[in-house]
Amino acid sequence: MVLHMISQGKGYGKTILFGEHFVVYGLPAIASALGTATVATVETADEYALVDDRPATPSYKKEKYDEQLESNKLILAEMGLDMQKSPVTITLAGDLIAASGVGASAASATAIARALNGYFDMGYDEARINEVAYEGEKGYHGKPSGLDNTASVYGGIIWFIKDLEGGPNTMERLKMPNPVEIVLGNTGITSSTKEVVGDVKIKKEEKPERFDDIFSTYEKTAIKARQVLQEGDMKTVGRLMTKTHGLLQDITVSSRENDFLVDVAMDNGALGAKLTGTGRGGLVQALTPGKELQDRVARAMEAEGYAAYKTLIGI
Ligand code: MEV
Repeated sequence: MVLHMISQGKGYGKTILFGEHFVVYGLPAIASALGTATVATVETADEYALVDDRPATPSYKKEKYDEQLESNKLILAEMGLDMQKSPVTITLAGDLIAASGVGASAASATAIARALNGYFDMGYDEARINEVAYEGEKGYHGKPSGLDNTASVYGGIIWFIKDLEGGPNTMERLKMPNPVEIVLGNTGITSSTKEVVGDVKIKKEEKPERFDDIFSTYEKTAIKARQVLQEGDMKTVGRLMTKTHGLLQDITVSSRENDFLVDVAMDNGALGAKLTGTGRGGLVQALTPGKELQDRVARAMEAEGYAAYKTLIGI
């Protein structure tokens, strides 16, 4: 007799406050977990199936479907699980809206790794879950920095530096004095991390000196951001965010829609705004301390026809 068993796992969504793309080249990044998460449920089944019940940006699931299957294959291989021998249904749900920019792929890889770990009683610790989630991220883009899965597994605010030699990455927890309101505005455009990261690499090879300059400006910005975030100096954090958006424009990962949402946020009083995540679509993040400012910026984005999510960083 096969017992019907069930196990659940959770992976936080994340927003990158500083360092998307730069992190791929060994520069520091700061990411914050969001209050929302993907939850994976693993249940005994007659054959292996993946059911995706996550709330999502239109077209996200369709466009990411092949990558999702590849990601699952990599997770199962890394965990040494054979779905022919021990089939399960994996169902993805939760309150994280799957969209480019919130670390949806990392959140789902983390949730699945945790749920499988529980179901098959594998006794993994957090570091091992993070390794599995990193393998899962490779399904979405060949050479992830590891930032998204680390934020998704550990939560909180993290300072992250990828070790380019393949050694252990640097991960430090940062502390903000208080949680702060942000708005995530959705361009509605799903972008491919693989394509955008690949394109930045080509552009960097074409203009190494220009990129070196941008990278060095970014690095100074990130170091300052780390300090002022922990001091709770949101005015300066905001200024550095907007400056970073300019640097992301310089490396060509912004888009008309990203720039427009940044302008809408700034025109309505946000302390700073930038794209977050892969860019060329996806999300824009606006720093909006206080409920009133957060509501105003979210309403302004909605009035322009974009979805806006209100959430907190530093929880
Ligand atoms: C994507 O959320 C973040 C990127 O920096 C890629 C990565 O870190 O692997 C664009």
